[in-house]
Parts: sequence; structure tokens; C-alpha cells
Amino acid sequence: SQRTLVILKPDAVARGLIGEIIGRIERKAGWTITAIELRTLDRDTLQTHYAEHVGRPFYAPLLDFMSAAPSVVLVVEGERVIEGLRTLAGPTDPIAAAPGSIRGDFGTIVRENLIHASDSEESAERELKIFFPGLV
Ligand code: GTP
Ligand code: MG
Repeated sequence: SQRTLVILKPDAVARGLIGEIIGRIERKAGWTITAIELRTLDRDTLQTHYAEHVGRPFYAPLLDFMSAAPSVVLVVEGERVIEGLRTLAGPTDPIAAAPGSIRGDFGTIVRENLIHASDSEESAERELKIFFPGLV
């Protein structure tokens, strides 16, 4: 099975949506949350995590938003969990995301799109090391 990194972004925490979102993850058959922590992300961590977006117009406001208030960071394990969490989350733009997805149900603003989930096996491996360096 697979392992992926999930971040419930500061908007999800501030709006009281973490129970709702974690509930959707828990209800997927065979998936397990194996780490979970409320954590205010520092800029160094975020710069490493979002390195692919350096230079884009949304990069600086994204780092400001993500570092300003606590997130919930999780490791989720299970069958096809990397693809599965991207499906649960929905597309990046919440207005384009279908109802039934997390972004489609709760989001309107592209930056404040509630959740991050690793987008490939390579990303998952890289991101898990950034956020949970002690993980075996
Ligand atoms: P993550 O799971 O957070 O990585 O989202 P993603 O993979 O769906 O999107 P991507 O990696 O392309 O962008 C990372 C984050 O930057 C997004 O989740 C948004 O919060 C933000 N973002 C991406 N594109 C835009 C954009 O065009 N405008 C704005 N304002 N924010 C953006
Ligand atoms: Mg991404």
C-alpha cells in the first residue's frame, strides 16, 4: 500500500472543518491515519515544500497564508491513497471542483483551498521527509 502527506490548511482549521475533512478520510475503506499534529508551519519548511512554485505570482501570498495560523499535518496510509486523496480533495480551484469533493463543497478561493495532498509517489516521498523527518 501507499503513504501520503496531507495538510489541512489554516482556513480549514480556522473554519472548524477539520473534523468534517478527517471524517471523510477515515470513512474510506482500509485507509489509516498514522500521524497527525496541529502545527504552525514555518517559512523554511514551506519554502522547501513549495519550491516548485518559486517565482509564481501566488507564491509569496501562499507562504504568508500558510505560515500565519496553525495547520493539521497528517500521514495517511492505504490502498491507492495518493490518487485517492487527490480525488477526495478535488481540483486546485474550488469553483472548478465538483460538489462532493472537499474543495468543491467548502471552498471558493484558490489560495484558501482547505487541503494539500501529495500529487505523486515521488512527491509523497519528498514531502513526508520534510514534514515527518523521523518517519521510518
Ligand atoms: P497543493 O495540494 O496545495 O499542492 O495544491 P495543488 O497541488 O492542487 O496545487 P499546486 O501545487 O499547483 O499549488 C499549490 C497551492 O498554491 C494551491 O493549493 C493553492 O493554494 C495555491 N495556488 C495554486 N495556483 C494558484 C493560483 O493560480 N492562484 C492562487 N491565488 N493560488 C494558487
Ligand atoms: Mg501541489
